This record gives sequence, structure tokens and C-alpha cells, in this order.
Amino acid sequence: MPAFFLPNICNMSILIISPSRPTQEWEQLFAIHYPEEQLEVWPDVANPEEVEVVLLWNHPVGILNRFSQLRLISSMGAGVDHILRDRSIPAHIPITRIVDDLLSRSMNCYVAACVLHYHRRWAHFENLQRQKKWDMTMPEKEVRIGILGMGALGLEVAKTLQSLDFEVFGLTRRGNEAGGVPCYAKDQLDEFLAKSDVLVCMLPLTEATREILNAELFARLPMGACLINVARGAHLKEEDLLPALNSGQLSAAYLDVFQQEPLPEDHPFWVHPQIFISPHIASVTNPAATIPLVMDNVRRMRKGEPLHYQVDRDQGY
Ligand code: GLV
Repeated sequence: MPAFFLPNICNMSILIISPSRPTQEWEQLFAIHYPEEQLEVWPDVANPEEVEVVLLWNHPVGILNRFSQLRLISSMGAGVDHILRDRSIPAHIPITRIVDDLLSRSMNCYVAACVLHYHRRWAHFENLQRQKKWDMTMPEKEVRIGILGMGALGLEVAKTLQSLDFEVFGLTRRGNEAGGVPCYAKDQLDEFLAKSDVLVCMLPLTEATREILNAELFARLPMGACLINVARGAHLKEEDLLPALNSGQLSAAYLDVFQQEPLPEDHPFWVHPQIFISPHIASVTNPAATIPLVMDNVRRMRKGEPLHYQVDRDQGY
């Protein structure tokens, strides 16, 4: 955008569209820190033609065309699959996502908690406790950890696990080492999987990665491997998980995300003894940390400067 193009922002608004998650905290923080901005929350939009920026979490597909002056779309989280599923978004509007230290820390702690729970055999010891049994044999499982998806979050998780002295490796397109973490290349997937006693899925959801966690992939992991999915429910072919656990191909699955959320009450995953479930909380956006990042991009957009963390729509992340 030419530098001389500075729009009249006086009447423009920022619109939050987040039908499935509460927005009160966002509204309060905007009112305190950016009182000069006109903030609206969908579906209450006074003047659709004044919407300049939208912050999205699972918006209803197709509605963005109503905002003729829209110039920036920001995800309210790290993922953007919920935005890119809407094919009607005009190609010229930039989409950005959130990369933030708090999101990273929260994801690091979550994955480390799963790995340590598995490595120190806490499910086994809980079981022994219920039976009042004192059994000191096999206090831990040695594990090598493969990270699928070495983006901003994946890299930090890998480094955290390295700092606990685990053998950690990633999978990247070309296999270049990333930030001190050794990586296999895409065409070495077999080698990568054969070593992954624990497989952590941190991939973006794209057509290429949908249902990548399936029976065929599980069969290439070491017998009795552990799966941790903190990416998207659609990465896992859910009907392949129970047979893999029941046959011993997998020995545990830590799942934070599901094909359908909230996970339906009658879903068999709830009651399987080797499945550990959390309700999509591995890494939850902190509005206080995120709003300044969004507003920095709003300022950049208004001044015609390059945006931070702009999504490549062709790549899907
Ligand atoms: C959470 O799932 C996110 O994408 O931030």
C-alpha cells in the first residue's frame, strides 16, 4: 500500500466475531487501553460499512462480505484454520495470527505435563495407589519424542523438552536443524516415526494434514507409542484410535482437541483408561497479552507497514 494512503479512521470500527467464546474480557480491556477505538461485538454491528478490522474465532462462514471496508483480519488465537475454511474471504484482505510468549509457555507446560505423566507412569501409580500396592519396579519409561509441526509453538515445546534432557527431534520440509533441535526431512518420515516413542502433533490443519494421525501412521511408530494431540481434532482419524490402543500399537493418547467440541457425552474417548482428555485448554489466548499485538498490526495496517505474523493462504498457516 502506498505510504501516502492514510485512511480517515475516525469512524472506523474493530469488530469481534467470536460466537463460541466469551468476549467480555476483550471488551473491558479495549475500553480501558484503547478508548479511542470503536469496538463492536458481532452480531451487534451498527454500521457494517465502517468495520475496518475483525478479530475472529469460529465466525459464521460467509459473513465477512458484509463489511465492504474490511482491511485486516486477525485470528484471536494461534490457529487460522477456522478462518481459512471460509472460502468467501476476498484474497486481498490480509490475515494475521497470534504468536505470543504466554501462548508458548502455556503450550510448553501442557505438553511437558503430558510427557512427564507418561514418562513417570503416573497412570500406573494411580492405579497402584487405588490398590494400596507398593511396587517400585519400572518407575519410568525411557522416551524419545518426535514433534510433528515445528512452527513457533512446536519449536518452543521441543526446546522445553530438550531442557529436561529428553531426546527430541522434529520433522520439517527440508530437515534443517531448527533452533538447536535436530529435524528429519519430510521424505524421512519413516525414520522419524520409527523413533517417536512419543509423537506430539502440533501441525497446522490443512488439507494435507487432515486425518494424518491414522492407523497407517500409528503402524509406523514403535509398538506401544504414545500420542499427544494439541493441534486440531481433525488431525486425528478418531475411529482409528481405539483399535490402535486396544491392539497395543499405542499405549496412551493425550488429547486436547476433538473432531466435535465440546466432546459429546456419549463419545467412547471419555471412558477409555488409556485416553487422557482436556477440553481444548492446552494453550488459551490471553486477551491482555494479545490485544497489544493485534493493535500493533492495526497501527501497521493503517500506516501501510508490513504486518507481523501474516498468514500465507496458499500454505494454510
Ligand atoms: C488454539 O487452539 C489456538 O489456535 O490458539
